[in-house]
Amino acid sequence: MENRGESQLQGRLGRRLLLFPLPLQGHINPTLQLANILHSKGFSITIVHTKLNSPNPSNYPHFTFFPIDDGLSENNEASRNDIVSLLTVLNVKCIEPFKQAMSELLADSSGDPIACLISDAILHFTTAVCKSLNLPRLVLRTGGVSSFLAFAAFPLLLEKGYLPVQDAKSEEPVEELPPLRIKDLPVITTSHPEKLYRLVEGMIQETKASSGLIWNSFEELEESSLTKLRQDFQIPIFPIGPFHKHFAASSSSLLAEDHSSISWLDKQAPNSVIYVSFGSIAAIEETDFLEVAWGLANSRHPFLWVVRPGLIRGAEWLEPLPEGFLESLDGKGHIVKWVPQLEVLAHPSVGAFWTHNGWNSTLESICEGVPMICTPCFTDQLVNARYVSHVWKVGVQMENGLSREKIEMVIKRVMGEKEGAEVRERVVRLQEKANLCVQPAGGGGSSYESLKSLVNYISLF
Ligand code: UDX
Repeated sequence: MENRGESQLQGRLGRRLLLFPLPLQGHINPTLQLANILHSKGFSITIVHTKLNSPNPSNYPHFTFFPIDDGLSENNEASRNDIVSLLTVLNVKCIEPFKQAMSELLADSSGDPIACLISDAILHFTTAVCKSLNLPRLVLRTGGVSSFLAFAAFPLLLEKGYLPVQDAKSEEPVEELPPLRIKDLPVITTSHPEKLYRLVEGMIQETKASSGLIWNSFEELEESSLTKLRQDFQIPIFPIGPFHKHFAASSSSLLAEDHSSISWLDKQAPNSVIYVSFGSIAAIEETDFLEVAWGLANSRHPFLWVVRPGLIRGAEWLEPLPEGFLESLDGKGHIVKWVPQLEVLAHPSVGAFWTHNGWNSTLESICEGVPMICTPCFTDQLVNARYVSHVWKVGVQMENGLSREKIEMVIKRVMGEKEGAEVRERVVRLQEKANLCVQPAGGGGSSYESLKSLVNYISLF
């Protein structure tokens, strides 16, 4: 971590950056982390945000917040439950309010002049608005590079018949994107697949048209994907992650963090606990939920499980659990609604992370040297899980449905002495690389250097 006073001198003071996060937890976190990093380099920061999932300004007194009307009414409730529809609607409904906000911000001569907008890649409509106002637009892609390349290949995948995914062929390899199989392609179950293809097309085209692309990833993790990306995208590329390793920022959780998870972890033996979380969006059926519960209980390992309200389809919270289940755990299990995840993963008691492989969770697990059990649900998570299990080999993927027997077996493999120790050794090696890449030592790590280039580049606008 850097000395704040010193780093401010490196930036060009007196310029303002506008950052516009996609209003979902997995996108808000990295956008605010990036904002903190750039603020530490001397830029003023304005967060332009929708009213939906608005971040809490009081956690960021050093930023200015500018809410825009996302136009989502009660009638849009249906689209809120279908992520592809929600993202499509946001890209339409936000155009006018965003344009007005930009005009207002650009006309305001009281603050620092605005250098550029940094937009989430999925908010592709911002390109046209920025163009009309002559404002440079950089893109933040909050996922990994490897999954982004799979999204970029959608036209080819459709042409060659890999997409839409057919169950009968799902185990076959995608020759053009090793080591992905058809079942690893970043799709989502939706009644509107054409909406997904259009959304992805918009994201890819408008990223190509941007003035630069920022990644919460690092060279040593995704070297070959970054090489391919640089061939295909002729724009400046800045892999400066892991963001949270540059700067310990305040929480941007939309749900209240339950700190009893930490005091419970304090009482457990080192490396003994399985931490379980399927992120901020994924939902599972009640039958799967019960298999997870019994699989964890039968493993006899202590577990900390985040059951977010909304995780179980059709249930409020834990009511599907059979009577007496929690008591029968005899203190071996702790179930909460939301945790301070970075703190949990850094806790010495945590021995494995059973994750849905959202990019943030994947990166956070690597950064803390925690082996993963992977059950991806949709989109980039499918690609991330394949890389975790078959490229970096820092986790084991559980495939073809959940059953309590399978869960117990995979937990034993990952927590066990032989395979578990090998996986742990590899993830600790990757953790070291993640720590080194943000450091100035030894001539500067890759992300440290890339951040320097980004700061210089933005300062030219
Ligand atoms: C979504 C998409 O599902 C994913 O595919 C994409 O990569 C990012 O956006 P999400 O479900 O939000 O992912 O998961 P993830 O990317 O892992 O982000 C979740 C964030 O919430 C992480 O930063 C994690 O630390 C945080 N979190 C999660 C908590 O702070 N507490 C919790 O209890 C659970």
